[in-house]
Amino acid sequence: MINMDILEVRDLSVNVEDKLILKNITFSLKEGVSHILFGPNGSGKTTLISTLMGLPGYEVVSGKIFFMGEDITQKGVDERAKLGLVVSFQNPPEITGVRLGDLLKLCLGKASTDEFTEEEQKQIEAFKLTSFLNRETNVGFSGGERKRSEILQLIFLKPKLMLLDEPDSGVDVESLRLIASEIQHYVEATGSSALIITHKGDIMEHVKAGYGCILLQGQFHCFTEPMGIYEDIKKLGYEGCVACRMRTREGWQSEQ
Ligand SMILES: Nc1ncnc2c1ncn2[C@@H]1O[C@H](COP(=O)(O)OP(=O)(O)OP(=O)(O)O)[C@@H](O)[C@H]1O
Ligand SMILES: [Mg+2]
Repeated sequence: MINMDILEVRDLSVNVEDKLILKNITFSLKEGVSHILFGPNGSGKTTLISTLMGLPGYEVVSGKIFFMGEDITQKGVDERAKLGLVVSFQNPPEITGVRLGDLLKLCLGKASTDEFTEEEQKQIEAFKLTSFLNRETNVGFSGGERKRSEILQLIFLKPKLMLLDEPDSGVDVESLRLIASEIQHYVEATGSSALIITHKGDIMEHVKAGYGCILLQGQFHCFTEPMGIYEDIKKLGYEGCVACRMRTREGWQSEQ
């Protein structure tokens, strides 16, 4: 089966605080597939997904972003969200004064006076968040609890493409299995896509990813066999891995 592209980025350059962080990046992501994005610290991974989401502070200097064939480069965050694009933060912020239960209802399109359905309650319970519903969102939550709350919010939004910034960082082994299997289940059940930033390989034990991508020196490289990519990165480093894959011409990104 040939998967269509859900997102296409052409020659994208991005400034943050007048500093050029992304330089002429071109890539695309497939529909119905999870992609794992690797890259050294400071290579611009968070900058990339923040730009794709249209967050303030990320200035597109040149290039275009297409989501499901539509040019979204100039669209606001709310418009992108309505089209089905969502992002989970590397460091989910505290939202004082907003109870998690109310935020989850908002994600589901419910009023705060509405009740959760049995199915929704089950999902909240699966994320071990039932006892958190009356607490202010993320206020005093541990690192792992924040990540669980963040991913559940995203799933309740029913997105078409999830941009997940290190959903596994600071997360214990059981919570990692939970978060990763829920992501996998969502992608499988809905045919949506994910771009998952990580520095480790454990998440791939539960997420069946189709591609391993690397952001390196302003270039985006995407290859099949993500687990192999991770092993190569550990052995050869990021540059060594990309150079080796390019030599063998594996993958599709470089051949487009
Ligand atoms: N507001 C800012 N002002 C100046 N430089 C910034 C700002 N935001 C990001 N940068 C710089 O942009 C570069 C890319 O940062 P980014 O957070 O995108 O990296 P990353 O690949 O997500 O790294 P990590 O793996 O550590 O999360 C870094 O050198 C960072 O210091
Ligand atoms: Mg980052």
